[in-house]
Amino acid sequence: MQTLDAGDPAAHARAVAARFRDVHGRHPDGVYAAPGRVNLIGEHVDYNGGLCLPMALPHATYAAVARRDDDRVTVRSGQQAEGFDGRLDALGPGRAEGWATYAVGVLWALREAGWDVPGMDLVVDGTVPLGAGLSSSAALECSVALAVAAAAGVDVDAAVRAELVRACMRAESEVAGAPTGGLDQTVSLFAEEAHALLLDCRDWSTRQVGWDPAAAGLDLLVVDTRASHTLTDGGYGSRRRDCERAARQLGVELLRDVDDQQAALAALDDDVRPRVRHVFTEIDRVRTSVDELERGDFEALGRTFTASHVSLRDDYEVSCVELDAVVDVALDHGGLGARMTGGGFGGSAIALVPTEVAAGVREAVAAEFDRKGWTPPAFLTAPPSAGARQLA
Ligand code: GLA
Repeated sequence: MQTLDAGDPAAHARAVAARFRDVHGRHPDGVYAAPGRVNLIGEHVDYNGGLCLPMALPHATYAAVARRDDDRVTVRSGQQAEGFDGRLDALGPGRAEGWATYAVGVLWALREAGWDVPGMDLVVDGTVPLGAGLSSSAALECSVALAVAAAAGVDVDAAVRAELVRACMRAESEVAGAPTGGLDQTVSLFAEEAHALLLDCRDWSTRQVGWDPAAAGLDLLVVDTRASHTLTDGGYGSRRRDCERAARQLGVELLRDVDDQQAALAALDDDVRPRVRHVFTEIDRVRTSVDELERGDFEALGRTFTASHVSLRDDYEVSCVELDAVVDVALDHGGLGARMTGGGFGGSAIALVPTEVAAGVREAVAAEFDRKGWTPPAFLTAPPSAGARQLA
């Protein structure tokens, strides 16, 4: 059974610094880390101005950086072959390819925001599984964003972190072509250990919510189904367009702003009604979940997670057979609740399970995938972890 270990952050920071020295023959000025995430609940509501409750994984991207004396930018990865070499004034949309667009896009977006970004060398590496719906792209963007801030001599307070979120979002939507909603970058930059982050995507306010599953005798299992997941191939964008169309029809900017939800649902066409129903009910479920979590009512929280999955499967139609199988098996083997997490169409699921049944749930999920002839899933354990920070 494959378990994906996050490893020791200090050891990863030393390794990426050593790689930087191998590539460039000099020491980096600093090393920065930014985590991937799971969203506990509040799915496909960020771009509707809704509420989300994500937390950071211990798995992170590490970026080593050193300023250059000229106007060139180089980006290399320990995980991918091709990199990027170019001039600062040639970083915009269409100028880089593949994974490097996410890194280069951040430099471009910060220049667009008026930052005086110097030439620099960047070497990145990391432990967030790629393409697993666990925000490896946001982890890359946010680690690079902190590295750029350091290279530009900017002190990173909460206001600057908020500005970095915006730049990473622009990088992702305008340079990498994934029109995502801000959830991933916000949690990567604002998460705290032993907390989930209640995020209001209408005004971008945040509140830390204490979340320590181990203390309650629970594990949050993360299962990477290894089923394909990408946010640039149409399904994500088409859901987003459905919501924007519905908002226009209802005369609001964001679906969050609808006052009379019953009247709104009655007014909508049959094809878009279930999508909007998901958005309305999911935002309510986030509020309910925060109450349940703060009361320590984990059985109720588990049921709310599962209700979210059913809504994403049946109303929003972004689940897939592999995600549904993880949820069903986890519930059949003593899980309190389970759901897909992130954009869907493959990627990862989470299950809230009593610690004593966690190993059994993992085995049962692996056995089910084997029985179906699917690629074996990978498992991550996920203590709520720290947000983006300097490591060296
Ligand atoms: C992806 C996007 C996020 C969010 C989720 C769904 O992870 O990057 O912005 O929309 O899907 O909740």
